[in-house]
Amino acid sequence: MPSWDLNILVKPRKCYNVKAIIKGFLSREKNIIPKYHVVLVKMKFQQMGSKSSSNFVYIIMDEGTKEAAVIDPSGSVKDIVAILKAWGATLKYVVHTHGHGDHTGGTQGLIAQCGGKLVAHPSSPMHPALPVRNNERLYLGKTDLLFLNTPGHSYDSICMAAGKYLFTGDTLFIDECGYAEQVGGDSALMWDSIFNRILKLDDDYIICPGHDLKASAKKTDTLGNQRKSNYALKPRTKDEFRAFMMSA
Ligand SMILES: [Fe+2]
Repeated sequence: MPSWDLNILVKPRKCYNVKAIIKGFLSREKNIIPKYHVVLVKMKFQQMGSKSSSNFVYIIMDEGTKEAAVIDPSGSVKDIVAILKAWGATLKYVVHTHGHGDHTGGTQGLIAQCGGKLVAHPSSPMHPALPVRNNERLYLGKTDLLFLNTPGHSYDSICMAAGKYLFTGDTLFIDECGYAEQVGGDSALMWDSIFNRILKLDDDYIICPGHDLKASAKKTDTLGNQRKSNYALKPRTKDEFRAFMMSA
């Protein structure tokens, strides 16, 4: 079932979930409110498992404009299109977290049926219409999409933050991280991506991985929880992390 998500974005870049506000999170920082422009954003979110693989596909939509993005369109294009139609969505972006075939297989069919522009890192083998580099943004209505370049699993790996969600592709899974020792991978780059980019983000972000590795019963989890439970995120030096990845 799709979930509804109401966030308050405090520009230039702060996102508060309504539940967190109810818990008094915002009240502790209310002194910042007068300085910023506050925008109410309602976003729809759907995680789709694949029948034939462990891949996850994600669909998000800005409720104000009905503009949608599909992240890593593997699996059944028919099912993705059915959800977009049910939501009355206009597909604006197809986002690749990286160019591996198990994340990109439905791209051509989806764009042929629904339109939308391909978004990926400039080094993607899929030649994106909208190449995105580290810290660049795109917009679905008032929902801003922040891209982080997170090489390691592959050179073109990116993560995308949208509201409270963080789509991590094959860089970070629930209670696991992606492989970095295959062709095109680099565990030293992976260390930088995890420890100097992803783990610098707020604990409230909900990690939306590219695969269900079944290392946990959870399909998503907060970054705060993952800091505690994910053995790949234990503090390690770069050399220690490389040795860890080689031994995994
Ligand atoms: Fe991959």
